[in-house]
Parts: sequence; structure tokens; C-alpha cells
Amino acid sequence: MSALIIAGTDGSIGATAAVGWAADDAARTGLPLRIVTAVHRRPNDISRFPVLDGEEDAMTRGAREVLDEAEATARTRQPTAEVSTTLAEGPPSLVLRDLARDAAEIVIGSRGLGGFAGAVIGSVSMHVAGHAHCPVVVVQPGQVPAYGEITVGVDDSDACEPALAYAFEQARHRECTLRALYAWQLPVHVFAPEIAYDMDEVRIAQYAAMADRLASWRQKYPEVSLIEDVRCAHPVEALAEASKEGDLLIVGSHGRGTLGSLLLGSVGRGVLHHAHCAVAVVRS
Ligand SMILES: Nc1ncnc2c1ncn2[C@@H]1O[C@H](COP(=O)(O)OP(=O)(O)OP(=O)(O)O)[C@@H](O)[C@H]1O
Ligand SMILES: [Mg+2]
Repeated sequence: MSALIIAGTDGSIGATAAVGWAADDAARTGLPLRIVTAVHRRPNDISRFPVLDGEEDAMTRGAREVLDEAEATARTRQPTAEVSTTLAEGPPSLVLRDLARDAAEIVIGSRGLGGFAGAVIGSVSMHVAGHAHCPVVVVQPGQVPAYGEITVGVDDSDACEPALAYAFEQARHRECTLRALYAWQLPVHVFAPEIAYDMDEVRIAQYAAMADRLASWRQKYPEVSLIEDVRCAHPVEALAEASKEGDLLIVGSHGRGTLGSLLLGSVGRGVLHHAHCAVAVVRS
């Protein structure tokens, strides 16, 4: 992994928000920022769309303008950040995914220039969040960091450890409070509804599981103010609720769920659709 933050831009409002977020993180962490635009010249690969005279030049010029504008946005926002730009060739989701292989994190907008009006998240964002090896931050336009608190979703599996590592580093750089949220639910026994649990016992066990998981992190980051938040609720609902009053929501790409073959667990997919602030998906 190289110490580099990548931001993808197509010149949209969502991408501009991503560039701003990435510039702030570059200034916080001291890592250099590289802004990338991918030009996909023949998205349909169909001969019915012949190459028009000057089309190639016009696309390159347009992409260069998008990059220049994004670079100016980043430099104005964070004059001390080290900023560079790259014009890459190919499908944006593949270009960004490949570049992410060597990055500390990749930052993209929740939406871009395309898509349909009601979509919450675009296909490039979804693809990168599901495939990239490094943490993927998906930023929503119009969000102003104001709460001095970030949230990390925790479950009782080791899969959340990389998310915890990212979350503690973010909290340290931001000098903000970290809320570690563990939402648990009782299993539903459709065929044996008479099975009853001792709820006090279950609650005590859940609190103990959370305390165990956080013990070594507390020791490693004594300077981070940590809130242990254990709730009996659906994780997506609880995390989305916490994101209303947080600057960043961090989740692992997978959790305890059994469908390990999916690229993104149901909680990751759920919070990308329902969070009220930027979401970081950290590969397990
Ligand atoms: N050509 C590109 N080059 C670099 N980054 C891009 C490019 N296209 C999209 N992105 C990044 O991905 C983010 C989300 O855009 P995405 O394309 O997924 O959404 P959309 O355009 O609304 O929908 P879709 O393209 O799926 O119809 C953008 O904000 C930007 O950060
Ligand atoms: Mg798009």
C-alpha cells in the first residue's frame, strides 16, 4: 500500500464533494492527494456510434478541464495539501478499482453525472465500494462536518477489525469522539416461537462482547474519546440513525453474515443507501 489518497471525479456535484473531503483528509493525515478522471472513449463499443472528427480531442480537453477545476477546488480548500492529477483511460469503475489497489484510501461521490433521478448511489460508487482493496469513502454532496463525532459499526466477528483500525486512525487525526456501535438482534425462530431468552442475560453478554472487542483498541489509542453504544436494533437502522449526528460512518465490507461470497455484506449495502453522512467501507 502506498501512502496516497485517491479521489475520483467526473466533474459532478457529488464528485466535487468527494474531492473536498479527500483534500481535508490529505491535510489531516499529511498524505498526498491524487485526483483521477477516467475517460471511457467507447462505452458501448458499437460501430453504430462512429468516431466523429475531433471527438477524441474534445473528450481529452473536457477531462483536463474537469481535473483542473477539481485541483483548484482541493488547493483552495487545503493550500497545504500535496495535490496531483491523473487522466486515465478506461471504464471508471475498473480504473478506480485498479488504482485503489495501491492507495491508502479512495474517495468518491455517492452520485455522479449519470444515473436516474431517484438513485441514491451510482454504479461506479457501488462497484468501487464492493471491489476495492483499500478503504472506500463515499461522500454525499452538501454535508458539512459539524458534529465532532464519527461512528464505527462493530459486530462480534473479527471481520470488523480493519474497520476499527481505520476508525481509530480517523478519530485520532480529527481529534473527535468515536462512537463504536454494536446493534444486535435476537434470532427469530419462526418454527418454534415459544423459545424464550433471558433478556438480562443476553444484554449482559452483548455488552461483554463489545467491551472485549474494544479493550485492546482502548489501550492502543488512550487519547481517543470512545463511546460504547450497544443497542438491540437492526444494524442498518441503528447506524443510519447515528449518522444523522456524525461526520463519518465506518463499516466493514463483511460481518458475521454467512454470505461471505457477496462483495459487500448487507449492512455495507444498507448504509450506503440510508446513511446521512459520508460512509467509509473498509475491506475485511
Ligand atoms: N469518469 C469518472 N472518472 C473518475 N471518477 C468517476 C467517474 N465517474 C464517476 N466517478 C466517481 O464515482 C462517483 C459516483 O458516480 P457514478 O457514476 O457511480 O454515479 P452516477 O453517474 O450518478 O450513476 P451511473 O454512472 O451509475 O449512471 C462520482 O461522484 C465520482 O467520484
Ligand atoms: Mg456515472
